[in-house]
Amino acid sequence: MNLQEIKQSRTCFMGKEIEFYEEIDSTNIRAKNWSKEGAIEGSLVIAEKQNAGRGRMGKQWDSPKGEGIWMSLIVKPVMSIEKIPQLTILAGLSMCYSIRQATGLDIYIKWPNDLVVNNKKVCGILCEMVKVKDELVVVVGIGVNVNSKKFPDDLSHATSLYLEGKKLFSRESIIESFLRRFEENYKIYIETGSLMNFIEDYKNYCINLNKQVKIIEGQQEFIGFVRDIDQEARLIVEKEDGSLISILSGDVSVRGLYGYV
Ligand code: BTN
Repeated sequence: MNLQEIKQSRTCFMGKEIEFYEEIDSTNIRAKNWSKEGAIEGSLVIAEKQNAGRGRMGKQWDSPKGEGIWMSLIVKPVMSIEKIPQLTILAGLSMCYSIRQATGLDIYIKWPNDLVVNNKKVCGILCEMVKVKDELVVVVGIGVNVNSKKFPDDLSHATSLYLEGKKLFSRESIIESFLRRFEENYKIYIETGSLMNFIEDYKNYCINLNKQVKIIEGQQEFIGFVRDIDQEARLIVEKEDGSLISILSGDVSVRGLYGYV
């Protein structure tokens, strides 16, 4: 099977409309433009290769041909802007289940939504917002290193499912499983308006809980200890002076693994 044959029948709306590209600048850019052209909720952009894949914090995302999942899903949640980071939590958790199911690998979440295996990153998520008329549209961009055999030297913290599982995996089954799982979770999230049904699972998979982390916020850095993750998926960190602060995803970079051990 190849990416163009993703089955759309098992979901109600996630992935019902798919645009497929052999090569594109960034699926997030295309998804944002498609939203402005009237894409329905659940529309999905998938590419074999991205020439200008975008990562968090203005970084680039390496997206070589045929080696990974480079896709962007369009959702139109009726919710306040402050809650948008919670969608990336939901997407990360959904992808964590799907990759575990498809590969049997012990995948964990590095807060807020990097997926790691053996302390190396296999998946990153970048949510971007776009206002279309009066509607808030969120593009959930997901990159998974599936069958990459090697990485450039400057990506020493990156790995692929192939390198960790010692075999090739089907990108299509991961995508299909993700679409089903994310749709299910998204419906519950929208109905309840909160992450309450997901936080316990999230905490079980999150590798930062009860660990030391380095928080980087602009020019400022400090070391802290992660005491908890609250119902809004904020990290509750105890600083060295004993005070507690809560950290919202998107504000900071948290290092507890690669680049800082
Ligand atoms: C991160 O830095 O961890 C987020 C990486 C997100 C990469 C994906 S690949 C598909 C989509 N299109 C992009 O340009 N970026 C996201």
